[in-house]
Amino acid sequence: MHSGTINLKGRSFLTLKDFTPEEILYLVDLAAEYKDKKKNGILHDTLRGKNIALIFEKTSTRTRCSFEVAAHDLGMGATYLDPSVSQIGKKESIADTARVLGRMYEGIEYRGYAQSIVEELARNAGVPVWNGLTNEYHPTQMLADMLTLKEHFGHLDGLRLTYMGDARYNMGNSLMIVCAKLGIHFTACTAEQYFPDEALVAQCREYAAQSGATITLTQDAMAGTKGADVIYTDVWVSMGEPEEVWEERIRTLSPYKVTRQIMDNAGEKSVFLHCLPAYHDLKTTVGREQSSKYGFTELEVTDEVFESAQSLVFEEAENRMHTIKAVIAATLGA
Ligand code: CP
Ligand code: NVA
Repeated sequence: MHSGTINLKGRSFLTLKDFTPEEILYLVDLAAEYKDKKKNGILHDTLRGKNIALIFEKTSTRTRCSFEVAAHDLGMGATYLDPSVSQIGKKESIADTARVLGRMYEGIEYRGYAQSIVEELARNAGVPVWNGLTNEYHPTQMLADMLTLKEHFGHLDGLRLTYMGDARYNMGNSLMIVCAKLGIHFTACTAEQYFPDEALVAQCREYAAQSGATITLTQDAMAGTKGADVIYTDVWVSMGEPEEVWEERIRTLSPYKVTRQIMDNAGEKSVFLHCLPAYHDLKTTVGREQSSKYGFTELEVTDEVFESAQSLVFEEAENRMHTIKAVIAATLGA
């Protein structure tokens, strides 16, 4: 399955900064084709006999399951590597691990901490490396989000997306990049200290100049969400961050909680997205622990919005699998 002149065979997938708008849209469309095949029971196990390694230094439900199911559907084997039971980083460097795994596997997924680690892995592996989330970026999530929005609105160009919460971490950064590249007007609506890094904003403004997108940073929750097509949020405390940050995050980001009032301000045609997992109730251990200290019942989004008809979060979660499959297939040349 190839369209036009786009050929991603042999490429790593580390950040969407490395991909043109055409390449990003190609992957979204390829994912839609795979989704269609899967729904219609059409087998697509064209990568039989190949294998991938999945390194997870942070926990995961969606990303891990997406890679495993996608690999299986493509006819491939997948090995899950839990750093607590492997040598990675403790007794063996990332560069050595890359050179070992690159001889056994056709591709390697990495989820962990610094972006520099996944980049080092890619430099040394000799096979495509896929970023399954780092502190800085979450590029496979972006493809799922774009597929979800394209399915819902029928187009991406010209949409208005507002991200509320911690906009200087993986989700805020990645959404700003993909929106800037694809002509989606991006607003980071949060407290000033959670605005994305200035250098990245400047780089995205250059992408936006090409695509017709705009980038807005605002602390005004009502002005920032007025008329938005998409309201997007993420947890306020990300994986790997210390316990001490919770109190300040809750205090500073509470005005940016996605509530019914925010969705009404955006308008009845607006949709709600969240990469998940979400603290929209107290049905989680961490949610209950933090709630007993700080006395909330819901954090970044209210349960009402999360469960509403405007919420596309489970379509979005399903699309992780179809889009990750497209990344594997395109970079391995299925
Ligand atoms: N959205 C996302 O990456 O989910 P997981 O952490 O469950 O993989
Ligand atoms: N910002 C979140 C995203 C989870 C998918 C984290 O890094 O934990």
